[in-house]
Amino acid sequence: MVQTPALPFSAYAKDARVEIDAALERFTEFDSDCPAGLREAIRHSLLAPCKRLRPLLVLMAAESCGSDREAAMPVACAVEMVHTYSLIHDDLPAMDDDDLRRGLPTCHAKYGEAMGILAGDALLTKAFEVLACDVRDPSVAAACCAALAKAAGASGMVGGQVDDLAAEFQDGGIEQLERIHRRKTGAMFLVSLRLGALVADAESEQFAALDAYGSRLGLAFQIADDLLDVRGEEAAMGKRIGKDSDRGKLTFPALLGVDESTRRARQLIDEACAALAIFGANASQLDALARYVVERNR
Ligand code: IPE
Ligand code: IPE
Ligand code: MG
Ligand code: MG
Ligand code: MG
Repeated sequence: MVQTPALPFSAYAKDARVEIDAALERFTEFDSDCPAGLREAIRHSLLAPCKRLRPLLVLMAAESCGSDREAAMPVACAVEMVHTYSLIHDDLPAMDDDDLRRGLPTCHAKYGEAMGILAGDALLTKAFEVLACDVRDPSVAAACCAALAKAAGASGMVGGQVDDLAAEFQDGGIEQLERIHRRKTGAMFLVSLRLGALVADAESEQFAALDAYGSRLGLAFQIADDLLDVRGEEAAMGKRIGKDSDRGKLTFPALLGVDESTRRARQLIDEACAALAIFGANASQLDALARYVVERNR
């Protein structure tokens, strides 16, 4: 059954999410050369109800650094397309083998494995088309393409996913786990903030503060995701729970227990928010998003 997303953590997030959804819808209309089944599979996953945290981070970072939401929207959508592709592939039988995502059947469960792979491919490439064609300043567009490609690629998200799979049913320690989480999840959080700052032509101190915030937020987010797999509720989360222990994943609760993992996540969020001091009141949305990340139930 499709669940509506949990209440957003702020009126800002609620409004911005509606605008992000509308922009994603426009960007994935596609022309008549796109097979109808492919379009449907892409939009099934991309437009499903979800949190939109990474595009929100792009918009919040851009606005905190003095840019406007409209200028940052194509970049926010590109990040969400890459993220959604990573989820579609993460759910494939060869990876985590999941059948439920965002409250709906996973892309491959509904449209077949080949279509799942290809819908992911199309989302990844569409993201870079959007950056190249819809970011106003060509030099900013090029910088965004380079940063997003690096974060999503072999030394970033994909590399982290490879090591996540290799660590299944192996003995691993906290350093190895943090290295996995920093790349498989953290890199996309960090780059979302950096892209927002790039659009806003931010100062170097602003980049540094967003990096300090984003690196802690990304790790705290994945600790919370690991915790939700242990004690979350499937209906609220829109994805299966208990999968990490079934698949022998290296996770925070498995290594440190629920209480210590929760404490660490909260501490990271306190540190993340402290790093926003230079933005003053302009960081209130980033602050609220970080608090939500560790207290969420989905
Ligand atoms: C899920 O990300 C994948 C992880 C990196 C753990 P989200 O929890 O942000 O999922 P959506 O985008 O809201 O569906
Ligand atoms: C997924 O991590 C990370 C990426 C998609 C890059 P998980 O495998 O923990 O995400 P969920 O729990 O399936 O959403
Ligand atoms: Mg995974
Ligand atoms: Mg998974
Ligand atoms: Mg998980």
